[in-house]
Amino acid sequence: MKVTVVGAGAVGATCADNIARRELATELVILDIKEGLAEGKAQDMMQTATLLGFDTRITGSTNDYSKTAGSDVVVITSGIPRKPGMTREELIGTNAGIVKGVCQNILQHSPNAIIIVISNPMDTMTYLALQSTGLPKHRIIGMGGILDSARFKYQLSQRLQCSPADLNAVVVGGHGDTTMIPLISKATWNSVPVTKFLTADEQTQIVNDTMVGGATLTKLLGTSAWYAPGAAGAALVEAIVRDEKKLFTCCVALDGEYGQKDICMGVPVTIGRNGWEKIVDFSLDATEQAAFNKSADAVRSMNDVLKTL
Ligand code: 2OP
Repeated sequence: MKVTVVGAGAVGATCADNIARRELATELVILDIKEGLAEGKAQDMMQTATLLGFDTRITGSTNDYSKTAGSDVVVITSGIPRKPGMTREELIGTNAGIVKGVCQNILQHSPNAIIIVISNPMDTMTYLALQSTGLPKHRIIGMGGILDSARFKYQLSQRLQCSPADLNAVVVGGHGDTTMIPLISKATWNSVPVTKFLTADEQTQIVNDTMVGGATLTKLLGTSAWYAPGAAGAALVEAIVRDEKKLFTCCVALDGEYGQKDICMGVPVTIGRNGWEKIVDFSLDATEQAAFNKSADAVRSMNDVLKTL
């Protein structure tokens, strides 16, 4: 399998490093517009091959998409990250043009690829990728909910003092500080509802801490996080290339599911070799559905900004 990661910044490089170590591709291309950056990071990663024991062939390219030709999966991480105090939505003015250009190059060189969008504001960038490529909707997947769900499990594990691996918890909706919806009513600790072990205030705190998980790290780091976003991107690549049929929350095109259409938002989907394969109905309760509708309104208003750019 051939995988390309567009963007050799912290998130893209971390995603590529995970892909290489787990041998999710025989050929891995990293592309960036900054002269030498992708080539340097690719060489540096290749020099870990004998140390870490992988055979992935990694190459870098400075903006030459011919090197990415025939990719089975392309991960888009390019664009600027947010600074402390910024929302993901504030990046749209810069990142929309970058993502649109990347999509046109992908369409030209890898027309059969499955596209994973990580660049922010991710829900709107995913919608942009779908609109600008015209590719089948099952091949356009936004990565946000996997990351937010991982942060949700982290918050729960800290409060419950348990292994995150024993937790099942998902976040749906937008990938925004105010648009994501951690479904705590459905979260379980080895099949037991977590609500059994947490007071209402603790549940509210966990939900709130999850929603601002990215912003909290941006404040600490001075820029967007990269370990978990990169690993989440690689987990999505793995589910695709290994046809795992994993159930993840991903940002996909809705056509009536969860009461929404003509929008891309985070919902539970199965992921396999053809991209996202089916949307799973988690039967949101009235409160959760109302929050989902409110989230959709916010995402839709961001999508409308695309028309003004
Ligand atoms: C995050 O939440 C980059 O959107 C990503 O860290």
